[in-house]
Amino acid sequence: MRVGIDFGTSYSAAAAVVDGKVELIRFGDACQFRTAVFFPEQVPNPDDFRLTPALAAQVESIVRAARMQQARGPDAQLRRDAIRVVRRQWMEEQARTAAASIADFQSALFGEEAVEAYLEEGTGHLIESPKSMLGYRLDPPVRKVIVSIAAHILEHIRLTATRQLGVPVREAVIGRPVEFRSSMGVAGGAQALELLREAAAMAGFDDVSFLEEPAAAAMHYHLGLAERQDTLIVDIGGGTTDLAHAELGGGLPPVVHRSWGLPRGGADLDVGVNLHGFMPLFGRDASAVPAHHYVEAASVHILPKQREFRRQDYRRVEEPYGSRLRALQRPGATTRLNRLAERIKIELGGAEHSEAALGFIESGLAVAVGQDDFLQASQDFLQRLRQLLERARADMAGTPASLFLTGGS
Ligand SMILES: Nc1ncnc2c1ncn2[C@@H]1O[C@H](COP(=O)(O)OP(=O)(O)OP(=O)(O)O)[C@@H](O)[C@H]1O
Ligand SMILES: [Mg+2]
Repeated sequence: MRVGIDFGTSYSAAAAVVDGKVELIRFGDACQFRTAVFFPEQVPNPDDFRLTPALAAQVESIVRAARMQQARGPDAQLRRDAIRVVRRQWMEEQARTAAASIADFQSALFGEEAVEAYLEEGTGHLIESPKSMLGYRLDPPVRKVIVSIAAHILEHIRLTATRQLGVPVREAVIGRPVEFRSSMGVAGGAQALELLREAAAMAGFDDVSFLEEPAAAAMHYHLGLAERQDTLIVDIGGGTTDLAHAELGGGLPPVVHRSWGLPRGGADLDVGVNLHGFMPLFGRDASAVPAHHYVEAASVHILPKQREFRRQDYRRVEEPYGSRLRALQRPGATTRLNRLAERIKIELGGAEHSEAALGFIESGLAVAVGQDDFLQASQDFLQRLRQLLERARADMAGTPASLFLTGGS
């Protein structure tokens, strides 16, 4: 059985054709889930500590060293102290190995549940929107983690579909943006497809093909059109914006003439709200902290940037910015801030003002954002969107009979 998969930056969904009809795969109560995975930290259990021969040897050498320094006290006491030292080192080592091997997927959580667990537990690892990293330059360990995570999400979809449909699902058509988010231009797009193929194979798919997302989006409109029609499909998602010019409907197969892509979407609007609306409270434009630190803090979906932000030392930054930045470095804080930015963005679609409480940064801290601020923060995206539409307008011979708008943004 073959499924169609929308592996979205923000949300993922799947469907299959059963007896000539499209059947959506259900994930719990919904037909989509947030593209996020959470791996709980493997907390080492002190009761698992055993004096293996290697550890016993370490204890002996500590005791010997203590005696040489003419430490006082009975031998039994020296030994007890030495065991305590070895045991602490052992615990630290266990914690380090656990953090390094998030490839342990047994206890992973998906979707909204993943984000909530991460925010609640304050430990563990949350990976959101792995799709937006596929086109980035990745060092081998990060590459491995990203592929495993994509594989895990695809496997979650495959197993859920297999359960629902009652037949093994081994083939997939996976949606792809016209242009992937990339730090390496076209090469980033090629890498993204290669990583997705690898992930799909790991997830147990024997056969995989790709379909441009706007072409996939066109299918729904196509099936409902009695008359043949020239259409421009506009899909503004979380990570990318895709256009396709297609001839649809009328009982004939759909023909996609051309497509255009912009590797920007709703997630960039969130970053905009975050940078313009929130970051001034953290000293953006008002402290000596370099501007790129704020971009790194706001880029919650790019692991290397997040790591870079957490590594900074803000102990000498003037108050109140120093304390706020340090609070933002705590696990989960940038994710929480980004969720508030997303909520404000959505609310500003229908209201003049919106606000958010930032008590997790500083007691009583709050921020208000107005529609004007939001438009200001969205300038870059809007400008690029306008250029994309102009390019499409120039490339098309005539004016399409209709526009089909889709995507969460
Ligand atoms: N009411 C709303 N107003 C503005 N933005 C919204 C609204 N509802 C959802 N969004 C945004 O839509 C985006 C998700 O859209 P969608 O599900 O189409 O993306 P996706 O398919 O996961 O991503 P992509 O296709 O880019 O890989 C998110 O950025 C979300 O914040
Ligand atoms: Mg999409």
